[in-house]
Amino acid sequence: MASTQLLILLSSLMLFQLTLPTITSAEPEKKIDVVVEGMVYCQHCEHSGSWSLSEAKPIPAANISVICKNYKDQVSYYKVFETDGNGYFYAQLEGFTMSQCLVEHPLQSCHVKPVSSPLKDCNLLTNINYGLYGSPLRFKGKKLYGSNYEAVIYAAGPLAFRPDHCPPPTHV
Ligand SMILES: *[C@@H]1O[C@H](CO)[C@@H](O)[C@H](O)[C@H]1NC(C)=O
Repeated sequence: MASTQLLILLSSLMLFQLTLPTITSAEPEKKIDVVVEGMVYCQHCEHSGSWSLSEAKPIPAANISVICKNYKDQVSYYKVFETDGNGYFYAQLEGFTMSQCLVEHPLQSCHVKPVSSPLKDCNLLTNINYGLYGSPLRFKGKKLYGSNYEAVIYAAGPLAFRPDHCPPPTHV
């Protein structure tokens, strides 16, 4: 139990160093954005009840929320973002502040949930990728660099809604 916690702490420490600038950076004015990106789909009726997204269609103008909690488990960041025409969201966490506290690192403290779908026939929440509890973030080393700008880009989801009415399966 204790060693598991130590392992988690150590691995998060490594990630922390990978993804955060050091405090003694030579360019203190450099702006660093935290971004979460992902897709929102309408699950195909045929796969209802599973986590399968095969044949799923992206949902434009769907809303998702990014929720981050501090070490006291209080919500420290909450914002709703809308998907673009391709069902893709790029959630730039303006004003997200990171303390030196490891548990407040986005990988540990932030989650993404589906909020609402504009499609009348596909607006039920699903737990695909733990959307109902909050889908965790992943980091695969994706960053954007500008001259005085840097963005650390996390991925989450994909999230999905499902139709409220699916025709019964037809067996021919
Ligand atoms: C998404 O959020 C925006 C802004 O809060 C709102 O205007 C829009 O109606 C929402 N879309 C849906 C599908 O709920």
